[in-house]
Amino acid sequence: MTSTAPRTARSTVDPFAAEVAADPYPYYRELRNSGPVVYLEKHDVYALTRYADVRAALRDWETFTSAKGTAFNPVMNQQVRGLVLTAEPPEHGALRGALLERLKPSSVHGYANWFEQKAAEMVTPLVERGTFDAVNELAQPFLATILTELIGFPHELTDKFVAGSTAAFLAMGPMNERTDNALAVIQDVMSTIAGITRADLAPGSMGESLYRAAERGEIPDEYVGNLLFDYVGPAFDTTTHAIGNLIWALARNPGQLTILRAEPALIPRAVDEILRYQPPIQIWGRFCRKDTEFGDMTVPGGSRVAIVLGSANRDERHYSDPDIFDVRRTARDHLGLGYGMHRCTGASLAHLEIEAVLRALLERMDRIELGKSRRLLNHTVRGFDRLEVRAG
Ligand code: HEM
Repeated sequence: MTSTAPRTARSTVDPFAAEVAADPYPYYRELRNSGPVVYLEKHDVYALTRYADVRAALRDWETFTSAKGTAFNPVMNQQVRGLVLTAEPPEHGALRGALLERLKPSSVHGYANWFEQKAAEMVTPLVERGTFDAVNELAQPFLATILTELIGFPHELTDKFVAGSTAAFLAMGPMNERTDNALAVIQDVMSTIAGITRADLAPGSMGESLYRAAERGEIPDEYVGNLLFDYVGPAFDTTTHAIGNLIWALARNPGQLTILRAEPALIPRAVDEILRYQPPIQIWGRFCRKDTEFGDMTVPGGSRVAIVLGSANRDERHYSDPDIFDVRRTARDHLGLGYGMHRCTGASLAHLEIEAVLRALLERMDRIELGKSRRLLNHTVRGFDRLEVRAG
C-alpha cells in the first residue's frame, strides 16, 4: 500500500526550550541535515531551516502567508492582526508606505551625526569607568533616548514601550506561563497606544507623520494606532540585542576588533555580519496555504511553519565557514532582517544606530573583555539580559 501522507523529516528538538536557546546552532545544524522540511513534534510545526528554502518561503507571501499571524500561539496571532506585519496587498503596500516615509534610507540618513554624537556621549563615561553592562547601560538607554525622540511619544511612556517590545517578541512563542504574562503586558501597551492622540506626539516626529498620512487619505484613520505599534513594538529589543550580540562577538574575536579599528570602512559590513551570525530574531512564523515541495519533502497545506532565520544564516550550503564571525565577509544577503514583502522596514534605521555605537566603541577601546553575562530567555529573540564588559 502506498502512503499519500506528505514526506517530511521529524524531530523532537524544541527551538523554544531554554537549553536550545542557550546555544541553538548545533540543534539547527541537526535540523538542516535531517531534511529540508522538519516536523517539530513538540509544537506541531513544520520547520524550514536551510537558506534557499527560507528565502523561497519568505518570497512566496501568498503560499506562506502572514495573514493568519506570525506567532506560534492563537492568542498572539489574533493580537497581531491589523499590523503591517500581517497585512496583505493591496492594504500592505499602503501601510508599509506610511511607515517607510520616515524609515527609508534617504529619510534616516540625516540622523547619522546625531546618533554618533549620542553614542559618543554615552560610551565615553562608560569606557572611563572601565566595567559596564553593554546591554542595560549602553544599548538599551541609547535606543530609548533616540527612539523616544524620533517616534515622538511622551518620555514617561518609554519604559512601558521598552517592556512592550520585549513582551511582543516573547509572546510570539508557544502558549505557556511566560507567554501569558507577556500578553498581559501587550494588552496594556495597546490600550495606552489607543489613548494616544495627535497632540501627545511631538510635531514633526515619526509618530505624528502617521496622522498626516491619514489626513492625506493614504491610510485609514483607524490604522494610525496599529502603525504606531509597528514603530514601537519591533524597534527596541531587536536593535538592543543586535548591539549586545555585536559587542559579545567582538570580545570573543579580538582579531576582528583589531581589523575594524584599522579599517573603519568595514563597519557597515560588520553590522551585516552580526545580523547574519547572531540575528536578534531567530525564529518566526507563517501559515502554509497549500502543499509545497522543498526537495523531496513537503510542507502540508493548512500547517503552521517555523521560519528559522538563525539557522538559514548559518547554512553551510550558502555561506562558507558560517560559524566564523568575519567582519570582512560580504553578508548583505543575510536573512536576519527578513526577505521579500515583509522585510524589515526599520533596516536602515537599525543599521545606522548599530554603526553609531560601534564607531564610538572602536574610537575608545582597544580591547573588550567579557565579564558576567546572562542569556536572555525570550522565545524568538537572541541576546543578553546582562552583558558585563571591561574596556581596555
Ligand atoms: C536589528 C534590528 C532589527 C531586526 C533584527 C529586525 C528584524 C525584522 C524581521 C526579521 C522582520 C521580518 C518579519 C516577517 O517576515 O514577518 C522585520 C519586519 C519588520 N520590522 Fe524589523 N527588525 C529590526 C529593527 C526594526 C526597527 C528599528 C523597526 C521600526 C522602527 C522595525 C520595524 C519592522 C516592521 C514594521 C516590520 C514589518 C514589515 C512588513 O511586514 O512589511 N524593525 N524586522
